[in-house]
Amino acid sequence: MSTSTALSPVYPLGSRLNERGRLEVGGCDVIELAREFGTPAFVVAEEDLRSRARAFVAAGRARHQDFQVVFASKAFPARAVLELFAQEGLWCDVASGGELHLALQAGFAAERIVLHGNAKSRAELATALRERVGLIVIDNLSELERLRELIADGALPPDRGPQSVLIRVAPGVSGDTHQKISTGQSRSKFGFSMLDAPAAIEAVQSVDGLALVGLHAHIGSQLLELPPFAESAAALAGLGAFPVYDLGGGLGVAYTADQHPPSIEDYVAANVQALHDHAGTNARLLIEPGRSLVANGCVTLYTVESLKRNVDLWVAVDGGMSDNLRPMLYDARYEAEVADRFGGEAACVLAGKHCESGDVIVRHAHLDDPRPGDIVVTPATGAYGHAMANNYNGVPRPPVIFCRDGEARVVVRRETYDDLQARDVR
Ligand code: LLP
Repeated sequence: MSTSTALSPVYPLGSRLNERGRLEVGGCDVIELAREFGTPAFVVAEEDLRSRARAFVAAGRARHQDFQVVFASKAFPARAVLELFAQEGLWCDVASGGELHLALQAGFAAERIVLHGNAKSRAELATALRERVGLIVIDNLSELERLRELIADGALPPDRGPQSVLIRVAPGVSGDTHQKISTGQSRSKFGFSMLDAPAAIEAVQSVDGLALVGLHAHIGSQLLELPPFAESAAALAGLGAFPVYDLGGGLGVAYTADQHPPSIEDYVAANVQALHDHAGTNARLLIEPGRSLVANGCVTLYTVESLKRNVDLWVAVDGGMSDNLRPMLYDARYEAEVADRFGGEAACVLAGKHCESGDVIVRHAHLDDPRPGDIVVTPATGAYGHAMANNYNGVPRPPVIFCRDGEARVVVRRETYDDLQARDVR
């Protein structure tokens, strides 16, 4: 029996429970979406993504004259998502040749693309130089050597001036997050330590064809407190005055109603303030949000396939670690509800369909009298869900459905069984 119909704040902006007690996202009834498009499915409220993008841009422009929001495309690398952020005027962070390809295909101007990576290949660097991306973020000396060789071999388009680059620094600051997604510590696999940074700056400045325009740091992801961001900015500024500072991404989101991340506005204000305090007001400021742009705009729909009671009540659905690896990788917690009976009280384990005991989506779920055939929804699945989806156990990856004003459209189709063998050579 339902006891409460309040919608948790972790659902997409504009979501509601309609007159029939069913979840609506982007004006679409998710029970009808499940019927029309099948499950599992990622359902995205398009307006949620747009309004978060606008909130980042407005917060920055109100405080700093030269401010750009760079979408970390790894968080949700679907063409429709990239196109949406390109339309909103954002730049794009790519971390591989594949992401660079997707960003260019989605319409980002090359000069708005920032190339990251701690193991960039010669081919990836050659493409970046040829396409003339806005910034290459140099992570290590091997990469610098490869750039030097490529430029000596004529990889830079003629008459276009030097390639602008940043140096990535691990500022020796780590926020409170899962160790697998903490990157700012000096022993990180990313970037130069504070000790090595001065020599790296000199080395980059000595390469003809490269223009060192600034510094970058990304201290980690899913950070729920602001002080580490300011410490990171202070550390970067201490390495010298440059025209560009890229302070990375990392703003955390609420996956469950008990988590309270800083607002977008407070996060941007803290970054701007730190830049002003330590590097003055003239430099260009870039930030690279991924998760905080896309996580809460999306929910996943599943169908309950089976129930089992032993010590626990097990509610098993038609997806799991193939569409959401985060519980397994980072012990991430999610909420869950029966999509047309919110506010349930039956304590249960929401389990996936994969052949591993660890394939659990929500360890401590409370659902209203769950039954086979019910549609279950988990909110806040937009970041790194589609991105890290896989075909374990031959499970086709879910579609992505954009919803807006009651209209739904498939922007990524569901995989088919034939897709599963599309690369097999007979
Ligand atoms: N910039 C750089 C250089 C990054 O490496 C990342 C994330 C970002 C920006 C965006 O960070 P965000 O705003 O999304 O926190 N798969 C993990 C997250 C890995 C993040 C990797 N880098 C997860 O599902 O939590």
